[in-house]
Amino acid sequence: MKIRLDYNNMLHEKIGAQGITQKMIDDLAPQIEKANKAMTDKRAKGEMAWRELPYNQADVCKIITNYTNELKDEIDAFVVLGIGGSALGPLAVQQALNHPYYNERNKEARGGYPKLYVLDNVDPEKLVYFLETVDPVKCLFNVISKSGSTSETMSQFMIIKEILEEKLGKEGAMRRIVCTTDAVSGNLITIAKTEGYKYFIVPSAVGGRFSELTPVGLLPAAFCGIDIYALLEGAAMMDDICKLNDINKNPAYMFALLHYLGMKQGKNITVMMPYADALKYMSDWFAQLWAESLGKKYDLDGNIVNVGQTPVKALGATDQHSQVQLYAEGPFDKIVVLMGVDEYKETITIPKTYSDMPSLGFLGGVTHNELIKTMQAATEYALTKAGRMNMTITLPRVTTNAIGQLIYFFEVATAYAGELLNINAFDQPGVEEGKNATYAMFGRPGYEEKKAELDAAPKKDPKYVI
Ligand code: PA5
Repeated sequence: MKIRLDYNNMLHEKIGAQGITQKMIDDLAPQIEKANKAMTDKRAKGEMAWRELPYNQADVCKIITNYTNELKDEIDAFVVLGIGGSALGPLAVQQALNHPYYNERNKEARGGYPKLYVLDNVDPEKLVYFLETVDPVKCLFNVISKSGSTSETMSQFMIIKEILEEKLGKEGAMRRIVCTTDAVSGNLITIAKTEGYKYFIVPSAVGGRFSELTPVGLLPAAFCGIDIYALLEGAAMMDDICKLNDINKNPAYMFALLHYLGMKQGKNITVMMPYADALKYMSDWFAQLWAESLGKKYDLDGNIVNVGQTPVKALGATDQHSQVQLYAEGPFDKIVVLMGVDEYKETITIPKTYSDMPSLGFLGGVTHNELIKTMQAATEYALTKAGRMNMTITLPRVTTNAIGQLIYFFEVATAYAGELLNINAFDQPGVEEGKNATYAMFGRPGYEEKKAELDAAPKKDPKYVI
């Protein structure tokens, strides 16, 4: 069953003056054609290697499955050491597909699979408290870094490796660490090979935030008992749809086009608002994909364009009590993407406790399923009435296949938006600057020039620190 995009409420006929007209879409015909061609050509040239992942990961899936079966009984927790594209996808997929209290349940209730932790940040408190809570000897640490050199990840790896070697010796520690990295670049592959760690490879042409369907996401998913083949099947299913050049039949292209038109009208924010707790972390994953891919200073012709759109994460119905006021009455600078499901996995009915009180009586006998869906429909209505651009993505049910579809859908949409914006959606020069400044501040060899640049930068005036 495929996921659906309903974009009625992006259109002029539904929301009035702020809406998109057919003429606006028709006027973009040359750009659409150019973008379609670029998507096809780049894929043919192998420049979008992530698009082939639904088809070329079968062998590695077999190795991952065997490895998971070999180790799952001897560990209590699978711990991801990674950040950005190396952390958000594994977390989003696990949160979507496992029981919401997965880690709190006993191993039998988890199907015999270990707990999952994702340690991304280098906040010292987090790692110290983690080590106070979880016995590292009973964990398998998956060091994930495409570049093999990200300071956050590599520093955590060094700390964990030392602890494990102290407790288990070199051989024992080796069985508790598995690396996921590029076959050539960075230090991690060299370390894995020379020190004998098990490792998985991220295909070199697949960038960090597009790597969820490589071992970056597949290995943690397998260790959480998720059917990784079904994930890839869902992605392949979406690829069949996303290959179509007809924008009216391709939901990923349409999603990108509508956002592009929105951006041209000053809609600089896109809100991702699932009405399912299971999808909450998909918004985090999407936020990185959209922000890092599309937020760019230069276009492909070298012009300064400073484009992009700020992704905002929200959760329905929770954020109806926090953010929806702003979405309905604040500036006309947002597109709200509601995300719903046809069918929740569970049903719970509200008892008829207060049938004599009209303000509560109407809830009696209603299910929470009906309640949350009605709230979603009501928010959609309110936004539409207020003339706010909104659209809805619907998953028939949060299944592994549907999550595979959703990942692939957002990836294609992001790449297509990049083509419409005429920018490189696959680099992140703005992030590199911060990384390089960190290296320079630590006096890393090779960053002397950057250090001099930092030293020469204007100093802060204490009078503005109050
Ligand atoms: O999308 C990207 O490339 C980045 O967000 C990376 O995923 C992030 O910086 C982590 O990089 P790495 O996997 O190389 O450690």
